Amino acid sequence: MYDLVILGAGSGGYAAALRGAQLGLKIALIEADKLGGTCLHRGCIPTKALLHSGAVVEEINEAASVGVKASFEGIDMPGVNSYKDAVVGRLYKGLQGLVSAAKIDYITGWGRLVAQDTVEVDGRAYRGRNVLLASGSFSRTLGVEIGGRVMTSEQALQLDTVPTSAIVLGGGVIGVEFASVWRSFGADVTIIEALPHLVPNEEESLSKALERAFRKRKINFATSTRFAGVEQTADGVVVTTEDGKTYEAEILLVAVGRGPATANLGYEEQGVPMERGFVLTNERLHTGVGNIYAVGDIVPGLQLAHRGFQQGIFVAEEIAGLNPAVIVESGIPRVTYCEPEVASVGVTEAKAKELYGDDGVESVEFNLAGNGKSQILKTQGFVKLVRQKDGPIVGVHMIGSRVGELIGEGQLIVNWEAYPDDVASLIHAHPTQDEALGEAALALAGKPLHSHN
Ligand code: NAI
Repeated sequence: MYDLVILGAGSGGYAAALRGAQLGLKIALIEADKLGGTCLHRGCIPTKALLHSGAVVEEINEAASVGVKASFEGIDMPGVNSYKDAVVGRLYKGLQGLVSAAKIDYITGWGRLVAQDTVEVDGRAYRGRNVLLASGSFSRTLGVEIGGRVMTSEQALQLDTVPTSAIVLGGGVIGVEFASVWRSFGADVTIIEALPHLVPNEEESLSKALERAFRKRKINFATSTRFAGVEQTADGVVVTTEDGKTYEAEILLVAVGRGPATANLGYEEQGVPMERGFVLTNERLHTGVGNIYAVGDIVPGLQLAHRGFQQGIFVAEEIAGLNPAVIVESGIPRVTYCEPEVASVGVTEAKAKELYGDDGVESVEFNLAGNGKSQILKTQGFVKLVRQKDGPIVGVHMIGSRVGELIGEGQLIVNWEAYPDDVASLIHAHPTQDEALGEAALALAGKPLHSHN
């Protein structure tokens, strides 16, 4: 009998296993594929490696403007892939070392919930006082058949040549990140997005700024445009949209969201509450059935690796009786690693107005034109802070090269419920892009130094 049997060893599952082992729990961690899951093998890590290769191209293209003679000769895709695979490989090895050092029973195979306290793998039963469902997600495809020139992010990560042209279906996070990489690599890219804006879940001003930046980078996009169908020809794809237009390119990437991987795992049979394939839990991640918990992409909410990690840690601590604090979904930082980067935490201005009333909210935008380091980096963008009137800062929204790295301070501000004066009185190193956050806080506290707000 284990203290905790975990189904799925992605970010949520393995974090629960490591934290649980640390707290003295006896743990079985079951995984059909590879330890580390989507994030490590098919998601966050390999895509960010590709984006780094893209960023190097952008630096070379900018070289002359900073007085450096350099010229871009082209992309060696096998070289890019071996760099990317080496990064994944090192992290994978490290993670395997951590799991084995923690004396977690790691079981390879396809698990199925066969009783409220039992997961079966290849005919063997693993019983636990507690069970954690962490089976992750898959790429949705709108019924489009994947194969050949039509792919999801999983196949797009394996390409061994740079496409001359690509259509990206979906202007959400995966869509804009791949569009950004392929454009840096020299491809002609067109994004098709059903909603009125790219990255439609973000503050509208960020979406508009990203659209301006993409136009400058000659990334094409059609917003408010719904996909109708795709045909593969001998040398490309022809995509039709509901407005009757057609788009042609060498490949099509389908990036229309990820669905919960919960089918045929025995969840319904054991009475686990489900809705549209997602597993429902209370705020303490308990399903209300037996001692079954769920974390990560199968639980409705942001499908982000760091949310999964935190939820996994939460469940391990809950089971160990540490009574951890409930995770506040809006306090989870969000970063999209296209060029320029988009980063946010907390609520949008519109959401803040819903919460505190139209007159109960103040906001300020600090333009990166007034930030020394951003000028040095030649990036444009802004930092927007939203506060509850006479209250704490409740939203941080940023766009610009490298602003993803500023989200660390952003999430402390929001989650520690800092007031503009608290942030303004802290010293930001000069010259850093971080200063833009300090300046925005100064402006919101009514004492702007380098802006006219
Ligand atoms: P997403 O939900 O961010 O974007 C999908 C987009 O496709 C939406 O904007 C939607 O309006 C559009 N769409 C849906 N149906 C359409 C149609 N018929 N025609 C045209 N457009 C249509 O999902 P995405 O980009 O696939 O990412 C999946 C998940 O992976 C996300 O939940 C995300 O959080 C996670 N992820 C996070 C990253 C990060 O944090 N940097 C990077 C990549 C993925």
